Amino acid sequence: MKSNTTIRAKISALGSGFPDNIVTNKDLEKFVDTSDQWISERTGIRERRRLLDGENNSDIGAKAALAALESAGKTAADIDLIIGCTNTPDRWMPSMAAMVQAKIGATEKCAAYDIVTACAGWLAGMQIANAFIRSGQYENILVVGSEALTRFVNWKDRGTCVLFGDGAGAALVTRASANEKSEIIDMRVRSDGRYGDILDMPGAGSRMPTSQTVIDGGLQYIHMNGQEIFKHAVRNMTSICEEILEAHRLTINDIDWFIPHQANIRIIDAVGKKLGAPTEKVALNVHKYGNTSTATIPTCFDEYAETGKIKRGDLVLMTSFGGGLTWAGGLVRW
Ligand code: UT7
Repeated sequence: MKSNTTIRAKISALGSGFPDNIVTNKDLEKFVDTSDQWISERTGIRERRRLLDGENNSDIGAKAALAALESAGKTAADIDLIIGCTNTPDRWMPSMAAMVQAKIGATEKCAAYDIVTACAGWLAGMQIANAFIRSGQYENILVVGSEALTRFVNWKDRGTCVLFGDGAGAALVTRASANEKSEIIDMRVRSDGRYGDILDMPGAGSRMPTSQTVIDGGLQYIHMNGQEIFKHAVRNMTSICEEILEAHRLTINDIDWFIPHQANIRIIDAVGKKLGAPTEKVALNVHKYGNTSTATIPTCFDEYAETGKIKRGDLVLMTSFGGGLTWAGGLVRW
């Protein structure tokens, strides 16, 4: 297919997939030295979803993908590319996206691969999808942010295990027709690998292959310096949003909805305050699902669009932050 710079991309539809199993803060109190009060006050999280034995990341990823397809009136046979955005694939190989491809029944003409960009993954996937649609190479792309984070937390580390949950969100990205308002306007990603150690899974990779030492030290799990991450998250999510607004000669008052990464209500409040975003324009789902990493933004967007809060034609600003460090911002007209 020829490259055509006049092609624009849009989010055609969204979908979500969560495990049914709910774990409340009170449930956690039974086996972790924590309290509902601490978790609620320090993070805003009240409950999260946890995959049961036998359920996998790609199951909820496929559920989200199928929901997006159904909403758009398309089938898996229409899809050219699946971009899996995940930090917790079923297996290191093959990709989560390939598993989703098989589960939704997409054809061999569909490419499928994962990108690893920590919590900024879904926006990074959207940046790739936007570029591919605009280049004319693909016409229908699924961007699936899907996580099985509860399989990678140390349930003895109260500093991390209470924060994360499992979930998946998917967007179907297609061409926007000439007279259509819906459009992906901007997607930007930034990284700073110098701080890679402050949020990572230190072991069970090629640097430190799985061994008894790795297992005894819990090095296969998520490790985080929460306070440092907090500071970087507020600074970088704010700056990338300011950069996007300035590039498009917009102010926060022009934005209908702001969807920040859902890691901690205090981070969301701090970024919203710095940007001057009114609280009634800030979309939230952290209280129900905790931090689902790459799935926080698409699931939140999906819920707000599905319930009619975000309306077609609304201008939506998004931002995310995670390990790497990586952070990203996006501006779309829904
Ligand atoms: O998605 C990727 C990006 N991730 C993030 O954005 C997360 C960023 N960080 C955070 O959200 C916050 O730093 C946390 C929620 C992780 C921690 O909140 P904090 O206000 O920074 O707490 P802290 O780490 O300073 O700990 C305060 C106290 C400590 O006790 P002492 O030393 O004051 O006696 C902790 O041991 O709270 C204690 N604590 C807990 N207590 C009850 C830590 N975790 C818990 C817990 N339950 N689950």
